[in-house]
Amino acid sequence: MPYTQSDANLRFPPGFRWGAATAAYQIEGAVSEDGRTPSIWDTFSRTPGKVLGGDTGDVACDHYHRWRDDVRLMADLGIGAYRFSVSWPRVQPTGRGPAVQRGLDFYRALVDELLAHGITPMVTLYHWDLPQELESALPGGSPAGGGWPERDTAYRFEEYAGIVAGALGDRVEWWATLNEPWCSAFLGYGSGVHAPGRTDPVAALRAAHHLNLAHGLGARALRTVLPGRAQVGVCLNPSAVRPLTDAPADLDARRRIDALANRVFTGPMLRGTYDHDLLADTARITDWSFVHDGDLAITRQPLDFIGVNYYSPAVVSGSADAAGGPRHDGHGAAEHSPWPGADDVSFHRAPGELTAMDWPVDPTGLTDLLLEYTAEAPGVPLLVTENGAAYDDKPGAAGQVHDPDRIRYLHGHLTAVHEAIMSGADVRGYFLWSLMDNFEWAYGYSKRFGAVYVDYETQARTPKSSARWYARVAASGELAP
Ligand code: NOJ
Repeated sequence: MPYTQSDANLRFPPGFRWGAATAAYQIEGAVSEDGRTPSIWDTFSRTPGKVLGGDTGDVACDHYHRWRDDVRLMADLGIGAYRFSVSWPRVQPTGRGPAVQRGLDFYRALVDELLAHGITPMVTLYHWDLPQELESALPGGSPAGGGWPERDTAYRFEEYAGIVAGALGDRVEWWATLNEPWCSAFLGYGSGVHAPGRTDPVAALRAAHHLNLAHGLGARALRTVLPGRAQVGVCLNPSAVRPLTDAPADLDARRRIDALANRVFTGPMLRGTYDHDLLADTARITDWSFVHDGDLAITRQPLDFIGVNYYSPAVVSGSADAAGGPRHDGHGAAEHSPWPGADDVSFHRAPGELTAMDWPVDPTGLTDLLLEYTAEAPGVPLLVTENGAAYDDKPGAAGQVHDPDRIRYLHGHLTAVHEAIMSGADVRGYFLWSLMDNFEWAYGYSKRFGAVYVDYETQARTPKSSARWYARVAASGELAP
């Protein structure tokens, strides 16, 4: 067969899903409409000094009012699948008890509109917006507060999962229980750079366990309400962690961060265990007595897919940085470490050009992670449920937004996905983060991850050149060189 240009294209498997992702608090706004109560992110973002520029999600992209236009925009861009999250305090304001119908109706209408445009919905049940009531509640009289360090929160999540499954299950097939539980546990309760902003290593480890438990209970609830009808998975943000050198101390640092970033979730979820080295490394901090008999049978539920969120790799060494320089673990220069018991591990900047987040661009981490999961969870399909980059996008004179850096980033990472597929990974789809610019957590609106530019003054949406480029890739199922 003659060599042609099209032979140089990377072809993705038939049926590969080309998607885009968002999350409720980052885009919806309308924080006190239709019975919604505050989430921990409302409280946190209104606390001075927590979010850059004092930004909040009060208005965000006003998606709560503009969802029809946003779905039309997705359809225009040829997006085949849309991953969004349900705001827990919008459908169950106190985090317990009966649901608010208006909240559920919003998501039912959104899903109907997606389906009418041929877009497959994927629901994330929890993308970080815990009802504030559950954080403030003091089950068992905990002096520090409630939230994920408390076991009860996992049972509240089970109830909430059942409610949403009942309301949307007749029209939604794809479900993710949690988004990036590492961030919820270790940034929320360890380093405190995310809501609720607590800085307690024990609370962070307790939160991690209760998130594992919530995942298991939630997955079970989905399957109970929707027997045989739900594709159930979880979206993790595994760290592609590399040792600075082959020195034993650096290899051990890699092992320890791998345990705290990755295996603390994949152990319970995939194997029904917390690895011995993780327990030993953290024994100074906790005896893990919050893990009850039977919990690890619940956390280990069969998975229909694993969602991988990937942005950048991490490089670690075993000796504390004498200069006390900035940590390059990608999670801000926090005063408190998000790594319980690993204060002596140093993070180094991985090679590669930087995005506007100061995250190095290195697609090989994505190939590595997809192949690691292929080995760790044989037979479980994978989805890249987030990948993308922030750049300082600005509209040109004619209003157009050119973002060649983002196109290069996406091209490199899609090539990395293709390489993983060629090496045997069963990757079924890719969700670009994000459909549109939005509230980037502690960075507020200062970081733009969107394929669509949002003018926050007018709420006008302008597809960037990357959106047009992605539409062409999705339409052809091929990546040109
Ligand atoms: C991970 C999170 O799931 C998402 O909410 C966030 O905006 C992106 N990564 C970029 O940081």
